[in-house]
Amino acid sequence: MLLATSASPNLQVYDKTVHRLRPRLGLLALAFACVLPAAAHDVITTKITWNREIIRILNVHCISCHRPGGSAFSLTTYNDGRPWAKAIQEEVLERRMPPWGAVKGFGDFKNDQALTPEQLEVIGEWVDGGAPEGEDKDLPPAPKFPAATPESVPAGGLTINGDLQLTNDFALEGLLPRKISENASFQMVAETPDGRVIPLLWMFPFKPIYAHPFLLKNPITLPKGTTIRGIPSGAEIVLLPSGG
Ligand code: HEC
Repeated sequence: MLLATSASPNLQVYDKTVHRLRPRLGLLALAFACVLPAAAHDVITTKITWNREIIRILNVHCISCHRPGGSAFSLTTYNDGRPWAKAIQEEVLERRMPPWGAVKGFGDFKNDQALTPEQLEVIGEWVDGGAPEGEDKDLPPAPKFPAATPESVPAGGLTINGDLQLTNDFALEGLLPRKISENASFQMVAETPDGRVIPLLWMFPFKPIYAHPFLLKNPITLPKGTTIRGIPSGAEIVLLPSGG
């Protein structure tokens, strides 16, 4: 992972250097150019473009973290994203990106950001086809982001750090991990007064750098007297209120 981080942009720098050198070195460079494999972005063999298909996928699945002021380097513009094209393809194919950090199927979340096989194919074809930018007119408007981040707890949010019994009904929209140690794994459930056990979230394994809210597909109202269990000592999770 770390190797790839430094390798991908460096490759791009190398490409650029080769281009800049060519005119200066004249004939020699021409001879060189015949031997050097053409830089990938010189030969465009795909109709898929950053401005039309790729940014629309990234806007939904990646930009919540990969943006200026986000938790990772920006992928919001072609210039930001182009040097990472190969790395993007690798990370999504290996299913390392977008990171989820929880066991799927335990709780049901609308912001599960996994890419579909079709989206993987689109990204692969774009990268293999020379990663073209496309036309300005195809660019969609920049997306807006949910206000909730581990640093900002929305009004009405309830921070819990151990078993807790609700003293009022709580309309639950989602869960926001806050202070959780690296690689922590735990199952969080709600036990209602009538004895139902509702799976909320199975953290596995948690990485603070990937922290993001988990937004329920179907918000639920937990009745007064419900007990939330499973949060280990030292950890903090915020219950996000509906409409908050
Ligand atoms: C929840 C936040 C989050 C989301 C969503 C996310 N990323 Fe990341 N990504 C990170 C962080 C943080 C890093 C840097 C730390 C690391 O390398 O693990 C990273 C690293 C990367 C890297 C560099 C990996 C390497 O080391 O070479 C690539 C490429 C990448 N992300 C692409 C994507 C793409 C494409 C998507 C969407 C399909 C995406 N990410 C979604 C947080 C996120």
